[in-house]
Amino acid sequence: MTIAIVVLISGRGSNLQSIIDAVGRGELPARIAAVISNEADALGLHRAQQAGIETRVLSHAGFADRNDYDLALRDLVSEFNPDLIVLAGFMRILGAQFVGRFEGRIMNIHPSLLPKYRGLNTHERALADGASNHGASVHFVTTNLDAGPIIVQSKVPIYADDSPEILAERVLQEEHRILPQAIRWFAEGRLSARDGRVLLDGETRPEQSLTSHRRHGIPN
Ligand code: GAR
Repeated sequence: MTIAIVVLISGRGSNLQSIIDAVGRGELPARIAAVISNEADALGLHRAQQAGIETRVLSHAGFADRNDYDLALRDLVSEFNPDLIVLAGFMRILGAQFVGRFEGRIMNIHPSLLPKYRGLNTHERALADGASNHGASVHFVTTNLDAGPIIVQSKVPIYADDSPEILAERVLQEEHRILPQAIRWFAEGRLSARDGRVLLDGETRPEQSLTSHRRHGIPN
């Protein structure tokens, strides 16, 4: 069985590209039904078009409040009948109107080891704290910002001479690995969220599902 995915983006779309590439290599039993951006000039829209994927822009600019935008986005996404919605650099907070419709079927990639550094500027904040490591998390989306149940994380070291840009690039490499991995688990019917916890192959995901910068520790 092949699942239908809608990917929401706001910008560059490198995580989107990692999904497109994984589908192209036959690694995901999935098809990307549409890519939707809230920004008309998002580079990710071009990546989708290059891959022959339908694109839509729904700008938040014309909406009086967040609730109205959520409702419009909910209706647009619903047109594509997705089994899974992936937030891949989608820089808007989604409220109950949207999340309630697709509960347990929305995933987000976030550039930190959640629950550390929810929100923006995660790399700068990790460096300012003098942290020794940092990373990325894929989690199911709830109405609480960057706080839904965690599916998989990957940890990277922080070096003394790191700049935010260099650290971001190191984290991004891991994002491009764990996001397709989480989508694959979902597409294979192995992953679900129940009572705020994540199940993989029927087992509750351990509190620490961290992997250290490399592949070991992640089931295939
Ligand atoms: C990624 O680093 C992603 O984790 C982050 O935005 C970047 C998008 O890059 N997302 C968030 O911060 C969401 N809170 P991309 O457009 O190249 O995939």
